[in-house]
Amino acid sequence: HEEFTKVKNIATIELGRYEIETWYFSPFPPEYNDCTKLFFCEFCLNFMKRKEQLQRHMKKCDLKHPPGDEIYRSGTLSMFEVDGKKNKVYGQNLCYLAKLFLDHKTLYYDVDLFLFYILCECDDRGCHMVGYFSKEKHSEESYNLACILTLPPYQRKGYGKFLIAFSYELSKKEGKVGTPERPLSDLGLLSYRGYWTRVLLDILKKHKGNISIKELSDMTAIKAEDILTTLQSLELIQYRKGQHVICADPKVLDRHLKAAGRGGLDVDKIYQRNKS
Ligand code: COA
Ligand code: NA
Repeated sequence: HEEFTKVKNIATIELGRYEIETWYFSPFPPEYNDCTKLFFCEFCLNFMKRKEQLQRHMKKCDLKHPPGDEIYRSGTLSMFEVDGKKNKVYGQNLCYLAKLFLDHKTLYYDVDLFLFYILCECDDRGCHMVGYFSKEKHSEESYNLACILTLPPYQRKGYGKFLIAFSYELSKKEGKVGTPERPLSDLGLLSYRGYWTRVLLDILKKHKGNISIKELSDMTAIKAEDILTTLQSLELIQYRKGQHVICADPKVLDRHLKAAGRGGLDVDKIYQRNKS
């Protein structure tokens, strides 16, 4: 079906107070083949062909935030954890929506195996999704993130880096190192490079004496390979006597930190989850 999957069908979507132009094809069910615009309920993510259907739906829909548990709140920002097994339709709707902005990711119909972390801006009308990432419940490859998306109206505000930081905070709580699933998009790679650079160089700046890649990995939950490629791309690694040595001249670190962009928003605390 490769030749069909290339054609972008849905050109725009309505979601909350935004009308958003889409970027890529998404395999909506065949009954949506005849439309170029879809209307999403911003809370349950059900999608409809006509505005009147959405208006009728909004009168009945009880949700004012994503389903699942709120596991983080700071000011007006909230993060909800949604289990794909408990909220199958929501997970599938989210995948259809996300694929409109993701190029080469395969869509996961098997949402049972994933957790979805939905980042919201909250006000008196409810919690409005700004972006999300998905995560396999059990990853053999130590992936701590499968797909990541900031909805276009909310991009370049630091939410991408916040989502990435959050994925590593979850890994730290699990006592594991993590890495994003590959391939990364250009924007995904830029965001990760920026995050890795900032986190690692902040530590190197403060640290006195020697530090190993293993120690950096233990402190950050960033996989050793990602640390090595990041530091190598910044030319901070030398190979001496059969060992990788990190060369951390403070002036050089400051220059790289400036180039890595803004720090983004800090993840201060994730609620203790009561898992039974
Ligand atoms: N042009 C140039 N650099 C960009 C960029 C753009 N349009 N968008 C992001 N970046 C880089 C910048 O370095 C930016 O840091 P800065 O603003 O401090 O300079 C950094 O990435 C992260 O920016 P941030 O605001 O935290 O990210 P975001 O909320 O815009 O989200 C993505 C980043 C990748 C999640 C978002 O672009 C997205 O959803 N893209 C579509 C889906 C996708 O490709 N996902 C990754 C699949 S692996
Ligand atoms: Na990514």
